[in-house]
Amino acid sequence: MTTGRSRCVALFMLIAVAARAASAAVTYSLVSDGLLPNGAFEQGPDESQVNGTRVMSPNAIPNWEISGFVEYIGSSHTQDDMMILPVPEGDRAVRLGNDAAIRQELCVTRQAYYSITFTAARSCAQAEALNVSVTPDSGVLPIQTAKHSTVWLSIHNPGHEENPACGPLVDFVSIKALRHPPHHIPGNMLRNGDFEEGPYIFPGVPWGVLVPPMSEDLYSPLPGWMVMSGTKVVKYVDAAHHTVPRGARAVELVAGREAALLQEARTVPGRPYRLSFSVGDGANGCEEALGVEAYAAQATARVSYESRGTGGHRRVELDFDAAEGLTRVVFHSSNYHMKPDGTLCGPVVDDVSLVPVHRHAARRRLRM
Ligand SMILES: *[C@@H]1O[C@H](CO)[C@@H](O)[C@H](O)[C@H]1NC(C)=O
Ligand SMILES: *[C@@H]1O[C@H](CO)[C@@H](O)[C@H](O)[C@H]1NC(C)=O
Repeated sequence: MTTGRSRCVALFMLIAVAARAASAAVTYSLVSDGLLPNGAFEQGPDESQVNGTRVMSPNAIPNWEISGFVEYIGSSHTQDDMMILPVPEGDRAVRLGNDAAIRQELCVTRQAYYSITFTAARSCAQAEALNVSVTPDSGVLPIQTAKHSTVWLSIHNPGHEENPACGPLVDFVSIKALRHPPHHIPGNMLRNGDFEEGPYIFPGVPWGVLVPPMSEDLYSPLPGWMVMSGTKVVKYVDAAHHTVPRGARAVELVAGREAALLQEARTVPGRPYRLSFSVGDGANGCEEALGVEAYAAQATARVSYESRGTGGHRRVELDFDAAEGLTRVVFHSSNYHMKPDGTLCGPVVDDVSLVPVHRHAARRRLRM
């Protein structure tokens, strides 16, 4: 589940998922961008509600409802097997063991799109997974006229390990309303080409946000974009902790050829178009010979970028003739790369634009 190879210290990561809200009843105040109420688990259970670290009562953690084997982990907690649980100093988190779940009821704006971000760290199980869901699902409810509605956000560990406590640590559960679908801006046929719209990045978390595979752009936490992969992710990074080619956000391709970032645009078959984008490094110590492959229709661009791990980028253009009424623009990293600390890294892609090329301009270029 994490990308670290270190045996002792698992790595925290931020994960983002998106969901659209629909439902009934207005009981809570509308959720705002940022940490959910008690989203960092700073308020814990009373001593009478725990046995060791295990939380014994469903409502023991303020604002949350729990089920299954849930532990409340304080800052100095360590395990017998020398695994150091990576809870930052003074911080608290929950650990979701066998079939454990935490959930919180949220008041959201109907038909709005939200992304959920949280940190997760592997503790002891080899293959840890989390199932994040928002219920009720928009598809099963009759249309309501209320402006706001309540939904349950649930994070569930479906695993069954021999040690029932084994499972990921969860912390910093945050939400962000997405402007979705983002509008086209003049001069770019792609939506959200600069990646400025995306999931919440918790200010105190410097690692960026992992965006899991999304084959449906309607619900992507990166509006407009899809992440195509079996299980791998791309990383959403911010200018506060990384160098990004333009604006405040960009995407780091951290999974080699195993995760592609793509978007579809309406095109006219036979017409010429130009795809432009920036390739760089996030100044996060990824000191490698990086490469990005970009595809559009029959055209391919293989872009190499020598990274010193200190930031920088180059601009690339790819001209192509559309073959279909819908053209897929695809990016992936040419290789896997790893930083000295064992975390995966890769090229940063930003500022992607797609424009039609005017025929007379193209012809004039040919004559020259
Ligand atoms: C607390 O957990 C221990 C170990 O699993 C168990 O033996 C004990 O009965 C539990 N105590 C209570 C009050 O449930
Ligand atoms: C994940 O959660 C959803 C909604 O609660 C449920 O329908 C689905 O079966 C769960 N998947 C797993 C693998 O537990």
